[in-house]
Amino acid sequence: METEIQLRNQIFQRLIDYQHQDENRLAFHLTPPIGLMNDPNGLVYYKGKYHVFYQWNPFDTNHTFKCWGHYSSSDFIHWEEHPPALVPSEWYEKDGCYSGSAIVHDSKLYLFYTGNVKTTEGGRETYQCLAVSDDGVHFEKKGPVIYLPKGFTPHFRDPKVWKQEDKWLMVIGAQTEELEGLTAVFASNDLINWQWQGPLAGNGVSLSKYFGYMWECPDFFSLNGKDILIVSPQGLEAQPFQYENLYQSGYFIGEWDSKTNKYVHGTFHELDHGFDFYAPQTFEDPNGRRILLAWMGMGDEQEQTHQSIKSGWIHSLTIPRELTVKDGRLYQKPIEELKQLRNKARSEIFSIANEEKEVLFDSELQEIIIDIEQFEGNKWEIQIHNHCKLIFNRKDSIVTLERQNFNHSKLETRQCKINKIDNIHMYLDRTSLEIFLNNGQIVFSSRYYKKTIKNQCLISVEGKAKLRWKNWSLYSYQYRNDTLKKVVF
Ligand code: FRU
Repeated sequence: METEIQLRNQIFQRLIDYQHQDENRLAFHLTPPIGLMNDPNGLVYYKGKYHVFYQWNPFDTNHTFKCWGHYSSSDFIHWEEHPPALVPSEWYEKDGCYSGSAIVHDSKLYLFYTGNVKTTEGGRETYQCLAVSDDGVHFEKKGPVIYLPKGFTPHFRDPKVWKQEDKWLMVIGAQTEELEGLTAVFASNDLINWQWQGPLAGNGVSLSKYFGYMWECPDFFSLNGKDILIVSPQGLEAQPFQYENLYQSGYFIGEWDSKTNKYVHGTFHELDHGFDFYAPQTFEDPNGRRILLAWMGMGDEQEQTHQSIKSGWIHSLTIPRELTVKDGRLYQKPIEELKQLRNKARSEIFSIANEEKEVLFDSELQEIIIDIEQFEGNKWEIQIHNHCKLIFNRKDSIVTLERQNFNHSKLETRQCKINKIDNIHMYLDRTSLEIFLNNGQIVFSSRYYKKTIKNQCLISVEGKAKLRWKNWSLYSYQYRNDTLKKVVF
């Protein structure tokens, strides 16, 4: 096993050697400097900065090695790259510093994460670990604080910690010995000693039937008077308009009694209907906003044929989104700060009747807001950059996102039911799109394959429509900087 210094030097060398220029590289999303990025971890505001840690394999574009990469920013636009916060150098994390969360206490930053260990017999062990920092950049590991309780398999991970009155609480993603997904709660007075509180949600706890074989990356918080559990269940069967990706991420809304740990909640709703969205995490910022970022990727069979692999990196995080509860659903809205990305604006009113309308852009990086003031007819389509299509079929109340499959280039779709669309808000980065419908009621996040790029949207309407159209070319903020090369690892 390599020592911490050896691992850090190897990662540093990879960064120094990496020279690739890549036209697919996203311009205003967080991507890994090299290698693979997956879950956002440890989202927190600490000493005047937002910190975003993430699951990172700096050595390859697969999931064989995991450390915590690290960016920080004071405005969510300009990012600074830091040395990895956690590298797997100790026995209890030898096969990966897996996902987790951050809290601030007594001016110190605490990271809780899962130490993943593979055994020689092909099994695994799991340890919930703690690391503490005074400056938000260098962390001292304190080792495991929670061991696997009885009744669970070692698929027990991704601790999310929060403060409830004068107590610390932690929710963990788990799999029972009966191979069902569950979340469990621990409590602590000092962040070191943790007591088992019992399960929070899952089959036999808050649900009455099987709902996946493992629940990953739980997050539990109060918002607008409701208690919300976000979780990423694995093993849900695809259904029409639902669970179409390999793994899902969604939420329950309910009421939680902190004294008895009883959580009564409604049904599970997916957070996003696009091809690439998983393992979201939220945090509360100093202004009381609940902000979410997710992995804009999917660990599925298309991962290894992704275009960006050729340039030595893969995946990204979503843009940050602010959450609110409305009509029993979570709404997502791009955070205000993203308006700073706006460059040249254009606005127009389009009246379209049984025809196509071409809107040309002077850059591929776009923010687009369309208010649909009137629509009489069966169907409209918006082709985005000659690569993807958003299609609304009014008769069947279906909205569809279409893209080319990374493996075989055939068209593939993701769909969901919706009666009416009166507002569309899109962020287009070089090879990604995020589409918010009806002010964040329904969201589609996806990467897409790029061949030749035509910077345009093509709107076609079967029927009659009046659209109030606005778009902005966006600035590209390169967050990589030379400071990294000066940082002592
Ligand atoms: C979710 C996940 C987590 C785990 C991490 C490892 O994508 O599987 O459960 O901690 O990724 O990278």
